[in-house]
Amino acid sequence: MSKETAFEAAYKLLNRSIIRYQGEPIGTVAAIQSSSLVAVNYAECFVRDFVPSAFVFLMQGETDIVRNFLKTVLTLSAQQPVMRGHDRAMGLMPASFKVVKDIDNNDRIVADFGERAIGRVAPVDSAMWWMILLRVYVVTTGDQALAHSPEFQQGMRQILQLYLKESFETSPAMLVPDGSFMIDRRMGVAGHPLEIQSLFYGMLHAAQDLLIANKENETLLATAKYRMQTLLSYVRFYYWLDIKRLNEIHRFGSEEFGPDAKNLHNIYPETIPDWIDGWLPEGMGYFIGNLGPGRMDFRLFSSGNLLAVMFGLATEDQAEQIMQLYDHHWDDLIGNMPLKLVYPALTGKEWSMMTGCDPKNVAWSYHNGGNWPMLIWMFAGAAIRSGRDDLAKKAVSQAMQRLHQDEWAEYYDGKHGDLIGRRANLNQVWSATSLIVANDLIESPNSMVLSESLIFY
Ligand code: GLC
Repeated sequence: MSKETAFEAAYKLLNRSIIRYQGEPIGTVAAIQSSSLVAVNYAECFVRDFVPSAFVFLMQGETDIVRNFLKTVLTLSAQQPVMRGHDRAMGLMPASFKVVKDIDNNDRIVADFGERAIGRVAPVDSAMWWMILLRVYVVTTGDQALAHSPEFQQGMRQILQLYLKESFETSPAMLVPDGSFMIDRRMGVAGHPLEIQSLFYGMLHAAQDLLIANKENETLLATAKYRMQTLLSYVRFYYWLDIKRLNEIHRFGSEEFGPDAKNLHNIYPETIPDWIDGWLPEGMGYFIGNLGPGRMDFRLFSSGNLLAVMFGLATEDQAEQIMQLYDHHWDDLIGNMPLKLVYPALTGKEWSMMTGCDPKNVAWSYHNGGNWPMLIWMFAGAAIRSGRDDLAKKAVSQAMQRLHQDEWAEYYDGKHGDLIGRRANLNQVWSATSLIVANDLIESPNSMVLSESLIFY
């Protein structure tokens, strides 16, 4: 099968996935499948899943659907239902939405803010992705008027008010419940997960460009800028792990009280997992998955790391070291189908405690060490930003044939991603669109503006 055939099929899937409201395109479904095995909500448009679809549309000059999507999600966020007895904060955006017919056969949009989702999780990442996408839309189309309209300015203010509101944080990192982002089930990712911090940084960066610098926005913009800077230095130092830092942690003193503490989070060296011994060669490193009192989650989460590279949350040197680590551990981290969402998997007691015995998240499956093709656009973006186009090319050529043959599977199981995920959907739209975006970032001149707007400098 030729490369052209694979990409033709990917575009075909994208075009079949379009959702319309009163005849206008407003989004794309998560997956197209007739099988009854598929969860009902895969026929909805998920905000995070739509992002790579939007990039493809923008590169093709089909900007209407992206504009309609941005408007729709903004309107929906003003119509949140009351959640089990308490009012919801304005500024939260839905995880997903669908178009249904009412009794008069008129189109109606129904959103899910977590009140229908499995585990009733709050989609903290949605508003972040929305604002990052809005910036990409504005840069690629030049349609600044949309972001400057009173509704969009008001919507962005509400998001920032919610996301910058002081709560129980003791650091610049954002505190969230389990499953509040792409990993939308219990997976021991409560606290300060890296992916949320990278998206937070990306969103605050986007807000600086999108909010008009007037009197009304002055304080919010200043708070956003300050938080962005403190978050940047905090993540770059405290989340970073290389052999030098591992040595420091290995010899950490503990129970340090007062302002001069070196071991700020009171991490006991005994919590360093066995797998890391010998796994981190000189000149390579990554950001750990989570950080809190007495807790370092040493797992490597790909999206948080790759977004940190793309958005410039990582220093240039850290970015190079992260990509070097992927290169060095290619079989473990990229595998047969790019690439690992989390490495390594939780097993045994740890799995039962952290996932709540979730059978979908058994070791080396789904969110717990499965391989996700949708990560390939982030991998390509990060590789390109750090001058490792060779890695992006290798991953894309590896994924292309098989993904097409496997009918755009949602995820893969196994230590090296050899097996189609046991409960994976087929025709998963972001598996196809992410491949197109990755390939375009490498090859197509149309993607120049996309990479400039995505990769913040
Ligand atoms: C799963 C994923 C989530 C995704 C959704 C739709 O729930 O965990 O991140 O948005 O499927 O594809």
